[in-house]
Amino acid sequence: MDIEKVIQGRTYIDGELRYAEIGISEGRIVTVGRLVSGGDERVDIGSSKIILPGFMDPHVHLRDPGMTAKEDFGTGTMAAVHAGVTCVLDMPNTRPPVTDVETLMDKKSAIRRRANVDYGLFAAVTSGINAGMLAPLVPGFKLFMGSTTGNILLNEDEEMIPSVRDVLATGKRMSVHAEDDHLISKEAEHCTRDHLRNRPAEAEWNAIRRLAGSFKGSRINICHITTPEGLDMAKAAGFTTEVTLHHLMFEVDRNTTAEYKVNPPIRDLDNRDRLFSRFIKGDVDMIGTDHAPHTAEEKASEFDAAPGGIPGLETTMPMIMEMVRAGRLPIQAAVRMASENPAANFGIRKGRIAPGYDADLQIYDMRITSEIDVRRLHSKCGHSPYGGYAAVFPETVMVRGEVQVEDGEFCGEPLGRDVCG
Ligand code: NCD
Ligand code: ZN
Repeated sequence: MDIEKVIQGRTYIDGELRYAEIGISEGRIVTVGRLVSGGDERVDIGSSKIILPGFMDPHVHLRDPGMTAKEDFGTGTMAAVHAGVTCVLDMPNTRPPVTDVETLMDKKSAIRRRANVDYGLFAAVTSGINAGMLAPLVPGFKLFMGSTTGNILLNEDEEMIPSVRDVLATGKRMSVHAEDDHLISKEAEHCTRDHLRNRPAEAEWNAIRRLAGSFKGSRINICHITTPEGLDMAKAAGFTTEVTLHHLMFEVDRNTTAEYKVNPPIRDLDNRDRLFSRFIKGDVDMIGTDHAPHTAEEKASEFDAAPGGIPGLETTMPMIMEMVRAGRLPIQAAVRMASENPAANFGIRKGRIAPGYDADLQIYDMRITSEIDVRRLHSKCGHSPYGGYAAVFPETVMVRGEVQVEDGEFCGEPLGRDVCG
């Protein structure tokens, strides 16, 4: 096959950074080696930079269609690409919720040619779901066991168990919002501590325990794990696990306002620190942002009325890369949790720099750190709890060999494709 383009420099390959030349053809990596000849175009990144595989975010809410005042596929994927996220998996709690093939196909045509990165669209698990028809069209399914934005709750065993069985029989992975709604209280709330009281850790544990009871060893992914105990239970059941940055950063006594209202809730300092050390040790499979944009006005309303959800698509990975720069997190852990595992767990040919994988690449100068400026972020929601935090942003980002970001600025076009056609 003719090599169209060669990128050369210090490259992340199989857990190591070493000099390599990457040959690309038709958006795919075709060869990786010390010397790759040919290529109409050759790019030498220089000795001070590194090439990583693009990140894949297994959990975003881009609100399109139906809630596009909060976010849309263009703005959400614009935020993604500036963070080096070259593929996003979008959750089904859009309007109308993605529960059947017709709604899914409508959502696919609504967002076609508007995405700046590749994407996959999840379907929601509902009672009476036609899982077999949906499976070839989605990277995975999403089960909501606790109430949250979107009202697609499925938490009673008589309905949940047969539907989950049907979904798992398709071979696709099922991501779960694991908070047992029976243990969630709806009492009035004035701050994140009240929100935590209403949504105790037992809700997470019981949801995981119930899934483990019926579906041990199945292709289940527990989203936004908030406790080390929940993490242990999920791992013991053979489930994959996902963690957000906000559960690693925030705690109820300092982060009290509706900006930090999120499901599952921010917990206490001791819990946060214990979860963070498990994360640093490499015990979590994936980082998912759970990017859940709501407008600044909605988040500024009284705590009880404000919607739950924190935006994080453009800030999470740059803050993780700052942890790498500062020596707090090994680069291998970052790439494993944000590139390799999300792609492998959802069966997508991305996340590694190796022949046969999509040429989703990003280039970093790890000497350059900056402060997050909320006014410069691209999400339509216009707010973020991460203003002022240190971050390392990618300089160049490529999606299937096409340069989408150069010198940190978007220079591409909406070439994003659905990973399930
Ligand atoms: C999410 C949203 O707003 O869509 N909110 C949240 O608090 N995380 C829904 C969800 O994932 O629970
Ligand atoms: Zn979510």
